[in-house]
Amino acid sequence: MDTREGDESASPGRSPRRSRRQRTAIERVADAVVALKGAPPAAAPSPAPAPEVFEATVPIAVAPPAPVLPAGEGLRDLLGQAVGLRLDAVTRTYRMGDVTVDAVQDVTLEIAPGEFVAVVGPSGCGKTTLLGLLGGLDRPTSGHVYAAGAALDQLPEASLADYRLQRVGTVFQTFNLLPSFSVEDNVAMPLALAGMPAAARRARARRLLEVVGLAGRARFRPGRLSGGEQQRVAVARALAGRPGLVLADEPTGNLDSASGEQVLTLLQDLHRRGATVVLVTHDPDVAAGADRVVRMRDGRVVVDRTRGRRTTRAPIALDPLTRLRSVDALRLGLDAVGRRPLRTALTAAGAALGIALTALILSLSGSALGRGAGFLAAITLAVCGFAIVNTMFMSVLDRTREIGVLKALGARFQDVSLVFVAEAAVIGASSGLVGAALAGLLASLGNQVAGDDLFVVSPRIGLVAFLLAIGLSLVSGLAPALRAARLDPMRALRYE
Ligand SMILES: Nc1ncnc2c1ncn2[C@@H]1O[C@H](COP(=O)(O)OP(=O)(O)OP(=O)(O)O)[C@@H](O)[C@H]1O
Ligand SMILES: [Mg+2]
Repeated sequence: MDTREGDESASPGRSPRRSRRQRTAIERVADAVVALKGAPPAAAPSPAPAPEVFEATVPIAVAPPAPVLPAGEGLRDLLGQAVGLRLDAVTRTYRMGDVTVDAVQDVTLEIAPGEFVAVVGPSGCGKTTLLGLLGGLDRPTSGHVYAAGAALDQLPEASLADYRLQRVGTVFQTFNLLPSFSVEDNVAMPLALAGMPAAARRARARRLLEVVGLAGRARFRPGRLSGGEQQRVAVARALAGRPGLVLADEPTGNLDSASGEQVLTLLQDLHRRGATVVLVTHDPDVAAGADRVVRMRDGRVVVDRTRGRRTTRAPIALDPLTRLRSVDALRLGLDAVGRRPLRTALTAAGAALGIALTALILSLSGSALGRGAGFLAAITLAVCGFAIVNTMFMSVLDRTREIGVLKALGARFQDVSLVFVAEAAVIGASSGLVGAALAGLLASLGNQVAGDDLFVVSPRIGLVAFLLAIGLSLVSGLAPALRAARLDPMRALRYE
């Protein structure tokens, strides 16, 4: 059990009014957590603490437990095992042509499991870069980043995505909610990426929205919510995968003071429940709410109250994960298609026309065109293919930020490529169906005009046309899908 729960002394100077508000938030979280798992038995003993991976040799301040927090299984359902972090002589250099920027320079830092750290410093000093390194969104140019016993800089891409999905909850300054999905679907997105069935993830998303006081907004689109509400949705989403590490990049930066205080209180609640919280802020009042302040300047850590803390580490294996189901990938692909109906319809219409022409060429009776028929059909298909490639590349460009969000949440290479292949397949299936029907129509028109059975569109040719359309879209969609899947999450998130 985290003995720092309810530690008012950890945040000196807090007003009684503020404390009451915090308790209210804590109680709300507590009620929702109890609801998640069902009420614990009245006299249930506190559970044994989960073993930590990192063991701090410098003890963390101990305070009496808060009376309002429930002890029991419910806490485990909200958060995972706290993550300890260590950076060893980490440098992150960006190169843009001749210019190099050392965004983070030779930073050595240790964050014990369950610490609440505020990272402060002037704009451009490397705070977001540091957070990206801790969250497994980026790799250092030199040095090592350890989290939960694993060297993140040496993990393969898929394991790094697993780390993000299973251990990290990220709250961005600009919310980064997906605008075309409902609030509930946004919160459930990490669970979809983790392969959780739809009903279970909906139930958890609803509970988490209760935790942040937004149960009534589940079916809203994020755009209809206030900034503070959107950020609370982002906190709920960050909690979906039961993280042990919550990273928040200026989560109050875009909010009015009341909304900012609500979000900060939520983060403090999570810290009290044992999560490691790293918060980037420009606001000294917000930083004052943390147990530890790390100040950066020009990529370096210049002030750290508890710097020099040493820990011992034990490696921890990540739990085996299921991954994004094909049906959910298809749903994401369909959603993308539905968001740009005109462009998709025009591409599908062009492809359908091409497929119909191909079917007509193939159905010419008596091989009027001889061996040239196959050649003409291939050219027509190639033209269709270019149209689909173009649309898919545009889709990747349009959705760069969205891909960044999905990757930041823990989507792997194959998850992102699956979503884009699904989108291409949707275009292919629709153009195939329309193309086959169009071929039949054009054939009968052509036969009437010619006064002869010039075209014979058999069901077999219709089927071939349909399959050709799907195959063509999958082939055409492959390169854009791979490009999307390879996008660097940090760059994608910064894409405008
Ligand atoms: N992808 C990138 N390519 C080139 N330079 C980058 C890239 N990302 C960050 N930088 C540079 O690295 C430095 C640190 O950036 P970072 O975003 O970490 O700063 P920050 O402290 O978070 O700033 P702010 O408070 O304004 O958000 C900046 O000079 C920035 O221009
Ligand atoms: Mg920043």
